[in-house]
Amino acid sequence: MNKAKRKAVIAGNWKMNKTPAEAKTLIEGIKPLVKDAGCGVVCCVPYVDLSVVLEAAKGTNIGVGAENCHWEKSGAYTGEISAEMLASMGVQYVIIGHSERRQYFGETNETVNKRVRAALDAGLNVILCVGESLAQREQGITSELVALQTKIALGGVSKDELKRVIIAYEPIWAIGTGKTATSAQANEVCKTIRETVASIYDADAAEALTIQYGGSMKPGNAPELLAQPDVDGGLIGGASLKPDDFAAIVKAAD
Ligand code: 13P
Repeated sequence: MNKAKRKAVIAGNWKMNKTPAEAKTLIEGIKPLVKDAGCGVVCCVPYVDLSVVLEAAKGTNIGVGAENCHWEKSGAYTGEISAEMLASMGVQYVIIGHSERRQYFGETNETVNKRVRAALDAGLNVILCVGESLAQREQGITSELVALQTKIALGGVSKDELKRVIIAYEPIWAIGTGKTATSAQANEVCKTIRETVASIYDADAAEALTIQYGGSMKPGNAPELLAQPDVDGGLIGGASLKPDDFAAIVKAAD
């Protein structure tokens, strides 16, 4: 598998952090530090911050994303936001299936699949998250679980549409815990995801797919993780809220 064929992408996931005013300060802090990045740079931000961040990122190399979307175009779904709404604002990316959505908001592989479909139909790029809990890892079912999450989420997605999908491997036990998967662990699961994609589509599609690692990625561990043959980028939580740290990770991906 040829890593040079794939685009490295570093994406920040701001989660439920930053008011619009704070978001403006953060994006303005990030902008100059990543302007010469050789890799793709994306900031996924809370819905209420999208306008401010889109405006600030206009004409820069920073892509802007949301953190979720609903699968219907519109209707009686109080509190939800559709993929169309995001696309109409100029949003380019959306995170789908983050473990925090699965864990705390009852999202299932099936609803993740519906959201992926809706996002692609609206013309968005998808950052699809998969990953195992500590109990699942200890049970030895990581590969099977991640393969299943990947297969269900990509149901009905064509090979052409797959070009607009990034998959992020995020072991739940490494998120926000300071515990990082070793680079070998991260690579092993990213490789499993690539093999799964090859089995659904073909070797070309798998080889072109950008697969990120996420879970306590920091400037200190990013170079080793990003040097792995099947790790093509990172989905960054905590460190994406600190311009210097985020920029250092972007630099490591270059
Ligand atoms: P942390 O980088 O804070 O561990 O979060 C990772 C994550 O969940 C990104 O989506």
